[in-house]
Amino acid sequence: MPRFPEYRPRRMRRSEILRRLVRETTVAPADLILPLFIVPGQKVRREVRSMPGVYQTSIDELVRDGAEAAELGIPAVLLFGIPESKDELGSGAYAEDGIVQRAVAALKREVPQVLAITDVCLCEYTSHGHCGVVRAGAVQNDETLELLARQALSHARAGADLVAPSDMMDGRVAAIRRTLDDEGFDQVPILSYAAKYASAFYGPFREAAESAPQFGDRRGYQMDPANADEALREVWLDIEEGADVVMVKPALAYLDIVRRVKDETGYPVCAYHVSGEYAAILAAGQLGWLDADRAMREALTAIKRAGADMIVTYWARQFVRGA
Ligand code: PBG
Repeated sequence: MPRFPEYRPRRMRRSEILRRLVRETTVAPADLILPLFIVPGQKVRREVRSMPGVYQTSIDELVRDGAEAAELGIPAVLLFGIPESKDELGSGAYAEDGIVQRAVAALKREVPQVLAITDVCLCEYTSHGHCGVVRAGAVQNDETLELLARQALSHARAGADLVAPSDMMDGRVAAIRRTLDDEGFDQVPILSYAAKYASAFYGPFREAAESAPQFGDRRGYQMDPANADEALREVWLDIEEGADVVMVKPALAYLDIVRRVKDETGYPVCAYHVSGEYAAILAAGQLGWLDADRAMREALTAIKRAGADMIVTYWARQFVRGA
């Protein structure tokens, strides 16, 4: 390593064109996945109070958002459904004519070039708001697996390009893989939320998806933020069960996990820049405390630099438009 004054790092920082020449990380539109929330009805477009720029939309409006994503070069959307009604077993999650199933069909018909990724989880569909079957006040792992597999299968039948289980039940990737394969969907990949932490940063999402747990919290199935080695075990387990892409979530507070997962597995890694991370930056921006656009760009660059191959972000369209 040369020393000062032979090496002057500032030399290569003198202009943007020089800086660009030696830039190690770039975030491209093709790296981004845009989450969208679908509600029943027609011509519905309701902004989520705690997530400026994020909307709950009906299927007709979703198709417009999908087309816009396609025009901007964003390759994929991640769909979350809010059903007409909820029940104990989340039956809307695996109904053939459920909200996500209809949304996927419409999107693939109108905007086939955009990948439709579906969130596979029961929490938006259960009356208690938990991600699985509840009995005696506890979420039942093995009983939930069958419902998740049915949900994933119904998404695949509707035309989903990838399915993304986010429930954190043990063994769900294997259950989904087996069901998809048995039914002729061996070409539908699984993007598994492999290391998903019990995070305070999901607050605004639960308003957007109307999925806050009605009792207790999700610490009985989502990971303890203090653990890193355990994240690797979760990730390996999902890979062995058939995951094609593994996700770390949230992103910014877990960049060490993103890096370790990438280095230790070599698998495609997705990081989810979650609702609270998005809302915190925008709120500070609205107060005039920071430049939200620059902060968001910096955050996405950091996530990519840490090893993520793709990023789920509510800022995808703004990122591309401003680029
Ligand atoms: C559903 C799910 C959640 C998120 C994605 N899928 C919420 C949760 O686990 O409580 C959070 C996404 C975000 O905060 O942006 N299980």
